Amino acid sequence: MPRSTVARIDLDALRFNYRLASEKAGNARAMAVIKADGYGHGIANIAGALAKDVGKYAVACIEEAFAIRDSGCRQPVVLLQGVHAATDFSDCVANDFEPALHCHQQLQWLADGAAPKFWLKVNTGMNRLGFRPDELPGVIAALEDAGQKSQLIGFVTHFACADDPDSTMTADQTRCFEAATALWPELMRSVGNSAAHFRPGQPLYDWSRPGIMLYGASPMIGKTGPELGLRPVMTLQAPLISTRTVQAGESIGYGASWVADQETRMGMVAIGYGDGYPRHAGTGTPAAVGGKRIRLLGRVSMDMLAVDLTMVPEAREGDPVELWGATVSVDEVAACAGTIGYELLTGVTSRVPRVCG
Ligand SMILES: Cc1ncc(COP(=O)(O)O)c(C=O)c1O
Repeated sequence: MPRSTVARIDLDALRFNYRLASEKAGNARAMAVIKADGYGHGIANIAGALAKDVGKYAVACIEEAFAIRDSGCRQPVVLLQGVHAATDFSDCVANDFEPALHCHQQLQWLADGAAPKFWLKVNTGMNRLGFRPDELPGVIAALEDAGQKSQLIGFVTHFACADDPDSTMTADQTRCFEAATALWPELMRSVGNSAAHFRPGQPLYDWSRPGIMLYGASPMIGKTGPELGLRPVMTLQAPLISTRTVQAGESIGYGASWVADQETRMGMVAIGYGDGYPRHAGTGTPAAVGGKRIRLLGRVSMDMLAVDLTMVPEAREGDPVELWGATVSVDEVAACAGTIGYELLTGVTSRVPRVCG
């Protein structure tokens, strides 16, 4: 009998969130960003559940695009980091993968063979990847000379600060992108991580690229997913495997970092950092049992963690504890662990089965 530590994946919630992204995208279409194993939810689960609705998927690399094809889904897949070798282009042609090319090396490789449909990545201020706006005319002239311009389908850029309502950088990047691409109105434009969908009036052009919001976690600083109208897709749960009462003055776990100041009923839960639960989540981090919120006590171990059951005397060994899900948002846990929901969702390890419901 396997332990019942599990990540339950609610595919209806996923589809709900995708519909919300599409509504917020207005006239743009929303390509579903499902890199990093569908943000930890299982790329085949996610691709399959959205297959009827999405026009394109987006992933980081070609291996992830092949995983989508292996799951039987046929929509075009945008490769957000382009390709990693010249030989990848023939796979792109054969499989309808659309790399977003971001550097001269990738254009050089393009010159060596048949070109797939591709995008150009424009650096409007993020300064990670992409061509500077002033490089675009030269790049496109070179593509024309090489007879490859016909395969260029659009421009992509990525926002650095869309999660911060107080930042003006998104508006600056948008202006920069419009100016940089204005000479080629026949080509498509794609901007917009999840956060951009929550910025009123933000243009999203032809294709937006929501990721984290599809999974019900928040892209915005200071808000949880549910506060933004999103439904959590992953419920991470694990059983209570032991309960005991500790007396005032007794400690729990490694480092004896939490010491009871009064008699406390506590429980051990079969999940730890070996499952991807963050070790930095300290005493007070919320969890839930039977729909009631409880709190962590002391340090998270590799395979278990302690919770305070004082407020839930009815809790028994074998009961499932929610580490995040409908009662406790992953964003709250992330805040307690000094990180973001993205890291927690993508960090759930392969020891935890993903079970779709
Ligand atoms: C280029 C690009 N577009 C879109 C996304 C989706 O972003 P988010 O998950 O914040 O919606 C990402 C994610 O990192 C990305 O790198």
